[in-house]
Amino acid sequence: MEQRGNFTSKLGVVMAAAGSAVGLGNVWRFPTEVGNNGGAAFILIYLGCVLFVGIPVMLSEFVIGRHTHANTISAYNQLAPGTWWRIQGINGVFVAFIILSYYVVISGWTFYYLFEALIGGLSVSADYTAYFNDFVSSPWKPLLCAIAFMAMTHLVIVRGVQEGIERSSKVMMPLLLLIIGVLVVCSFSMPGTSEGLKFLLEPDFSKVTPSVVLSAMGQAFFSLSLAMGCLCTYASYFGSETNLVKTACSVGAIDTTVAVMSGFFIFPAVFSVSGVEANAGPGLVFITLPNVFNMAFHSVPVVGYVFTVLFYLLLLLAALTSSISLHESVTVYAVESLRMTRSRASIWVSVLCMSLGVLCVYSFGPLSDFKLLGLTVFDLFDFVSSKILLPLGGIVICLFTGWYLDKRLVLAEVTNEGRLRFKLFRVYMFLVKYVVPVAIAAIFVNELI
Ligand code: PFF
Repeated sequence: MEQRGNFTSKLGVVMAAAGSAVGLGNVWRFPTEVGNNGGAAFILIYLGCVLFVGIPVMLSEFVIGRHTHANTISAYNQLAPGTWWRIQGINGVFVAFIILSYYVVISGWTFYYLFEALIGGLSVSADYTAYFNDFVSSPWKPLLCAIAFMAMTHLVIVRGVQEGIERSSKVMMPLLLLIIGVLVVCSFSMPGTSEGLKFLLEPDFSKVTPSVVLSAMGQAFFSLSLAMGCLCTYASYFGSETNLVKTACSVGAIDTTVAVMSGFFIFPAVFSVSGVEANAGPGLVFITLPNVFNMAFHSVPVVGYVFTVLFYLLLLLAALTSSISLHESVTVYAVESLRMTRSRASIWVSVLCMSLGVLCVYSFGPLSDFKLLGLTVFDLFDFVSSKILLPLGGIVICLFTGWYLDKRLVLAEVTNEGRLRFKLFRVYMFLVKYVVPVAIAAIFVNELI
């Protein structure tokens, strides 16, 4: 069997894990949720969810991954041989596979929009809704784009943990952070800045309902890549000196900063153009924003061009670092448990995922009338993975760490065998034992109802 890879530097560890977390969820879903749920009050609640739910779950995944140095399925097999807990290992890898198959579709769209932005195609359309609908229902364009995106992910994965994942994350993540900084600065020069900032920073608590709290928690889960085996897999490449608590906090902080900064450049732009609603829904990124950028910068088209290109490049980088982690979670299982070489395993994962991806691509075109349980294949995958398997996985991870694992093992892992101090250990254990499972169960029941 091939030798197991390892991340070799602190920066590599944080950039890879943050790369998994920072994705379309930050740039696309977060601002949409903020828009739909009334702005700053949502952001405050979201911060609470990251702190009290997201970081404890992430830390638990790190404990499981680093302790076993194995893929997610083997990790649970090692820690809980012969018990039902092992199902969570299978769940993690399965969900990563399903998510990857539809994540490549949206990522393919960003690839297309980047290409169109580069050749100036996005600045000429008068009707962005028709433009988007034409594209997604085309029989070949979105498919080719999804395949191209999968190929990029594949190329990183075949190169391995150090040369592929760590190296690419160390380049792509700083670039992504730089781009987002430039976009925020550019956006602050627009006339709608103060209105956009007011929308983001003035909390309106009258809008807070239980369902807003639940949306914030669901968003935190998706955005931090929790319960999908990705962070557990990455933690299996951490060295014995990696500080798990610090890493979890850094990843949570980077992910949240990117999400909030996305709001900081999107809303000033949106408020600079009259007649566009802030809560424009999921069409925000592919219909509203190209239109907004075009109109907001129409007196200085060069700035508009650069802004639009940078925006879609940002989305593409964010999507790529996340899809790499999803792919790796499945590939390393095939390498270690099915005893394949890495290149063979990654080809299998890419091809199988893309085969399901085809159904997801065509959910917006020829297969849009093909419904299972009333949902298109794309929506079904999204629903089953993010609304059912993910929250269930989150609950199981917490119960596993809080109730099943030996407390001494968990303490040894989070303190690097006693070499570090973790003053909040009891608080952490209390959260994973009681608070987080109950909170996630509440989302779950609410979503199903
Ligand atoms: N966290 C990613 C995002 O915000 O887009 C999505 C994601 C990546 C989810 C990896 C799950 C995962 F395992």
